[in-house]
Amino acid sequence: MSKKISVSMMCADHMRIEDSIRAFEAADVEYLYIDIMDGHFVPNITLGTDFCRALKKETPVPLDIHLMIEEPENRLGWFDFGAKDIVSVHAESTKHLQRVLCAVRSRGARAFAALNPATPLSVVDYMLDDIDGVLVMCVNPGYAGQKLIPSTIDKIRDLRRLLDERGRPDILIEADGNVSFENAGRISKAGADIFVAGTSSVFQQGTSCIQEGIEKLQAAISPEM
Ligand code: DX5
Repeated sequence: MSKKISVSMMCADHMRIEDSIRAFEAADVEYLYIDIMDGHFVPNITLGTDFCRALKKETPVPLDIHLMIEEPENRLGWFDFGAKDIVSVHAESTKHLQRVLCAVRSRGARAFAALNPATPLSVVDYMLDDIDGVLVMCVNPGYAGQKLIPSTIDKIRDLRRLLDERGRPDILIEADGNVSFENAGRISKAGADIFVAGTSSVFQQGTSCIQEGIEKLQAAISPEM
C-alpha cells in the first residue's frame, strides 16, 4: 500500500491559505486534513463547516475531515463531503459509532474510526466491515505542537498485525499527532499508511518551504528500497 500525506490545515498560515493550497497541489499531497473541533469533545475550536465548503470550491484535493465534536450523528449534515473524502469519527464521541460510520458511508465518503491514545483497539474488533480506516491519535486531540505518546506507535503496530491476521490489509491506518521527520519513519515501519503533516514537519519552516517539507516527509515515510 502506498504511503500518503494529509496536510493539517489548522497548521497552515491562514493569512496565506491560498498560497499553501497551491503549494500542496504542486506537491501532489493526497489529502487536506481538516480538524473540526467544537470546544466540548476537545478544549479547542478550530476550522468550521464554511471553511470545508470553501476548500471544496477552491481545490480538487480530497478532504480528510477529523470530527472532534460531540453528537457527530446529529451534525454530519453540516458538512459537504463526497466520494474521495475521508471522515473520521471518534469512538469516544458517540454512543452509536457503527451507526455514524454507516451514515458517513451512505453520504459517499470513506469512514474512519478515530481512537484517542487511551482507547483500546478492541473498539473496532466488530467494526471491520463498517470502516475504511482507523485514525490513531498519537497525541491527545485538540492542539497542534504536542509530543507523540510513545505507546501509540505500539498501538499502530498492533493494529496492523490485527488487520493482517483478520485478512483486512485494505483497511488503512492513519497517524495524527507530532508526525515529525524523526517520528515518521518509526510510525511508517509500524504500519501506518496515511500521515498527518503538521507543525513538526511540513509547516516547520513556513509556507515558502512547504514543497521541501513534503519531500522530506515523503522520504521519511517511504519504505526502505
Ligand atoms: C490534534 C491535531 C494535530 C494537528 C497536527 O488534534 O489534529 O495533530 O492536526 O499537528 P502536529 O503535527 O503539530 O501534531
